Amino acid sequence: MPSPADLESIILHTIASSGEVADSGKLAADQGVDHNVLVGVIKSLSADELISESTTPNSKWDLTEEGKAILATGASPEFQLFNAIPADGISLNQLKTQLGQVADVGFRFAMQNKWIAIDKSSGESTIQRKVDSVEDKAFNLLRDIGAASRDLAADDKEAIALAKRKVANLTSWKTFKLTKGANFALERKKAATDLTSDMITKGTWRQETFKPYNFAALGRPPSGGHLHPLLKVRTQFRKIFTAMGFEEMPTNNYVESSFWNFDVLFQPQQHPARDAHDTFFLLNPASTPASSFPPDYLQRVKTTHESGGFGSTGYGYAWQEAEAEKNLLRTHTTAVSSRMLYKLAQEGFRPAKYFSVDRVFRNEAIDRTHLAEFHQIEGLVCDHGLTLGDLLGTLELFFTRLGLKKLRFKPAYNPYTEPSMEIFSYSEELGKWMEVGNSGMFRPEMLRPMGLPEGVNVIAWGLSLERPTMILYGIDNIRDLFGHKVSLGMVRKNPICRLGL
Ligand code: PHE
Repeated sequence: MPSPADLESIILHTIASSGEVADSGKLAADQGVDHNVLVGVIKSLSADELISESTTPNSKWDLTEEGKAILATGASPEFQLFNAIPADGISLNQLKTQLGQVADVGFRFAMQNKWIAIDKSSGESTIQRKVDSVEDKAFNLLRDIGAASRDLAADDKEAIALAKRKVANLTSWKTFKLTKGANFALERKKAATDLTSDMITKGTWRQETFKPYNFAALGRPPSGGHLHPLLKVRTQFRKIFTAMGFEEMPTNNYVESSFWNFDVLFQPQQHPARDAHDTFFLLNPASTPASSFPPDYLQRVKTTHESGGFGSTGYGYAWQEAEAEKNLLRTHTTAVSSRMLYKLAQEGFRPAKYFSVDRVFRNEAIDRTHLAEFHQIEGLVCDHGLTLGDLLGTLELFFTRLGLKKLRFKPAYNPYTEPSMEIFSYSEELGKWMEVGNSGMFRPEMLRPMGLPEGVNVIAWGLSLERPTMILYGIDNIRDLFGHKVSLGMVRKNPICRLGL
């Protein structure tokens, strides 16, 4: 049997003398080698561009063991069954005694072919012939496949029907047509993979061809390592949300327009949170053109800010498009919720439960509980007739599942929720109450302009991922958990975590 090196030479010489190798399948057969072996040689030659290849799809039908067994009996089960039915009909049980296993399969396909019918007129159900005579097409096809005497396409409907019955099988493979490549030569010069000291001292590196680096190759995955506590708690939140039937929202944009981050949330354009103190505005690109916001929605948002609607008087100021166009690093993932709720309203309302866990940015003074960049856990439920009780219940359930049982709620204010509640959790490790999030029921001024129907409410909350993680791991200073001051030892040891994460 030729070696890979022999095959290489055969391919190159064939191309040199006749311009091509027309069919790699034929070459493999001629040389008595497995086609896969030849493919290895072809891939390696074409990687060095000695040859170029084009593929041809091939396929072949053959019989499964069951198909071969039918072939041996000389007729398909349905044909056998049909022929076993006397002129005045017969019961299925009698057929079973007569034909054995063949009866069930035969019955199914004879029914499918509309060869037979069940007659219940006499009180007892009997099987009757519906036609006088039938042709055993399934068997004929099996016979032809077995003898390879018919050219059958891969998408032949009848053959596919046999494959569904598991009596025939399609095998597909690719063969190649080979021609000269950009670096065609009869001899392959093996490229050097390493520059050796020998090559340098003897100067032979000048004549050497070096194999180019493959920068696209994947590295070996590191075998060690530890997950950061934030990642573990994030996974935990994901599991809890998914178990509660929530869908994850797409959060893959840190840059957002003020429109989606603030305006659609009924946050007035003079709100202090928009000031450079709390928001990182972008210099480049500084804005998103208002033409990219849905025009009728933009109009409804503007009107609601200016003069209200839906039972609201609005803020009574002149709403500026230019303000809504300003780009920023999203200050909360509620921007994602607003996009999703708008989408839901456009698609036609259906009850929905959404969540996300991703990064947000705030231009804040950094201290032991605040960072300029942190993770927010966002959740919302959108349905008819939701109440504050639903919000309290959902949050209780959710935090209990995370291992935080002691919760307190405090009335708060958000421009987009009414009522609003801050959420506090007690840390046993730190012996104190900590604020873990903010929540509320989205205002009609936010929901109705989106097009969500009257009577549909949304309960929502935004939590920091860092705070519960600090509580669970007993970490007192946020800078010890996230950011450039984090000690790798903390990541490795994961001090005390009540969840055993
Ligand atoms: N967006 C709020 C925040 O950043 C959280 C929140 C979300 C409050 C949803 C109410 C409803 O704190």
